[in-house]
Amino acid sequence: MPRLICAADALLDGGAGVRFEVDHRGKPAQAFAVRFRGVVHGYLNSCRHVPIELDWNHGEFFDISKLYLVCSTHGAIYQPDTGLCVGGPCRGARLEPVPLEESGGQVWLSDAQGE
Ligand code: FES
Repeated sequence: MPRLICAADALLDGGAGVRFEVDHRGKPAQAFAVRFRGVVHGYLNSCRHVPIELDWNHGEFFDISKLYLVCSTHGAIYQPDTGLCVGGPCRGARLEPVPLEESGGQVWLSDAQGE
């Protein structure tokens, strides 16, 4: 069964993200959802440089330009739609995607997650 994460309108384009927990390879892990150019994207909340959470302010993932997700610790920047790191110490690495779906005015964690 898909799991409800949040109302679709809780995610504004380039705005604050919604944090949630997922089961990742049998262990609880922090994840987040953001909206970019109209589309919802989900990733594990773990930088690819050092595996710590990205957001310095709870739920704030975008940089000031609202074009990139930024790690608060050493400033790695990631493309919001692909998770690819395009600047910083882990350039070329990717955030781990978490499959989300938007339907019926809600955002859902898809069935495939955690398998
Ligand atoms: S921990 Fe994210 S850039 Fe270093």
